[in-house]
Amino acid sequence: MVPIKLAKDIHWIGANVHTEDLFEGIWPIPNGVALNAYAIKGEKVAIVELVREWGGAALTFLENLKSLSIEPNKIDYIILNHLEPDHTGFTYILRSIAPNAEIVTTQKGSDLVDGFYGIKDKVMSVKTGDELDLGKGKTLQFFEIPHVHWPETMVTYEKESKILFAGDAFGAFGVHRGSIFDDETSEVVKPYWESEMLRYYANIIAMFSPNVIKAINSLSDLDIKTIAPSHGLVWRSSPDVVVRKYLRYANYNQDFAEPEICVVWGSMYGNTEKMLTSVLRGIASEGVSMNVHRVPHEDPSYILASAYKSAGLIIGCPTYEYSMFPPMKNFMELLQKKHVYYKKVLYFGSFGWSGGAQRDFEKLSENMKWDIIEPITFKGHPTKEELEKGESVAKDIARQVKEIPSKIKDEEY
Ligand SMILES: Cc1cc2nc3c(=O)[nH]c(=O)nc-3n(C[C@H](O)[C@H](O)[C@H](O)COP(=O)(O)O)c2cc1C
Ligand SMILES: [Fe+2]
Ligand SMILES: [Fe+2]
Repeated sequence: MVPIKLAKDIHWIGANVHTEDLFEGIWPIPNGVALNAYAIKGEKVAIVELVREWGGAALTFLENLKSLSIEPNKIDYIILNHLEPDHTGFTYILRSIAPNAEIVTTQKGSDLVDGFYGIKDKVMSVKTGDELDLGKGKTLQFFEIPHVHWPETMVTYEKESKILFAGDAFGAFGVHRGSIFDDETSEVVKPYWESEMLRYYANIIAMFSPNVIKAINSLSDLDIKTIAPSHGLVWRSSPDVVVRKYLRYANYNQDFAEPEICVVWGSMYGNTEKMLTSVLRGIASEGVSMNVHRVPHEDPSYILASAYKSAGLIIGCPTYEYSMFPPMKNFMELLQKKHVYYKKVLYFGSFGWSGGAQRDFEKLSENMKWDIIEPITFKGHPTKEELEKGESVAKDIARQVKEIPSKIKDEEY
């Protein structure tokens, strides 16, 4: 790709990366990921965000700089909003070819620059409200937004163009499809962004939802024309849409989410699966939207996104060696870790002699702010009566979920 103009003397210089690697070593990115970085030319030159050496990203970044006639030794500032290595992996190499560049980050960011890259000199710590005059009308202003995603995180606002360089906030998985801009994104591509934004949020940001709300509130007086995150689309026509989208996602962690049910199940020999059939019949009879996922067959990254946006959550799995079926236990631990709160929840599953899965379920659902329906467990295969009970309990949960108002109101971009 070539540099893309956001405003006079402000360009996107990032890279779209396809890689076999998992994001953070955990999350699949079959659609790749955009590592957005930006160059701002006043009398001084600032780069906001970098890339990591990943799928050719570092070379693309350097080629983009070259196309803008920015020699590395002419870079005055490297602004690091967030120190996670998807954005900063290239810091050490860039500093070695851009020795004049001063790294600009928060106090906590400076500690991480030292910790990750062993760089101590020419590192400037900034705090909320600090400004950096680049000349020719370009002024950067910094605002700390701790824990969106890491504790050191800040955003950078360019006052003349009113562009907010937002870091991970408002980001998404997935490379750009045809354009980096919201207003050049056709209807056909929007569902791609919606699902990749939600999955990114559920996988990476969900735990920090209260901090997202706090950050959005703390920036609400800024006159923002464009939101330029470090992943995903640049929102130049409808920054309010992505703000509303992120508030919606953040609120999934504060209250019941969308009127849908996420069913996650696993079974070794088909006994639990028999009950699944009844449960699905109960949900379908109420006409409630459902997404059904089998563990360990489907990657937890996708199931997490589905569970995060659903007001109803049904977990079905057997006992395995006195505990919960291991892939389900792993998934439930992820729900805990990511603070997937406020769900109407049912557990069902088969056991042979002692049971154990239900006990794990109860332990793993502590402190999750869930509204839990009496579990349905059965020895071996479910009887006719148990199957009928499964259907009617699922019908009840579907009825309750139907009463929850939908929160989706932000599609217009
Ligand atoms: C490897 C393995 C370990 C098991 N461990 C236990 C156990 O500790 N306690 C128990 O009550 N049942 C145990 N069971 C029995 C299963 O929970 C039981 O067969 C159940 O019906 C399986 O449900 P499914 O057909 O949905 O896989 C175990 C079964 C297997 C295959
Ligand atoms: Fe991050
Ligand atoms: Fe990131």
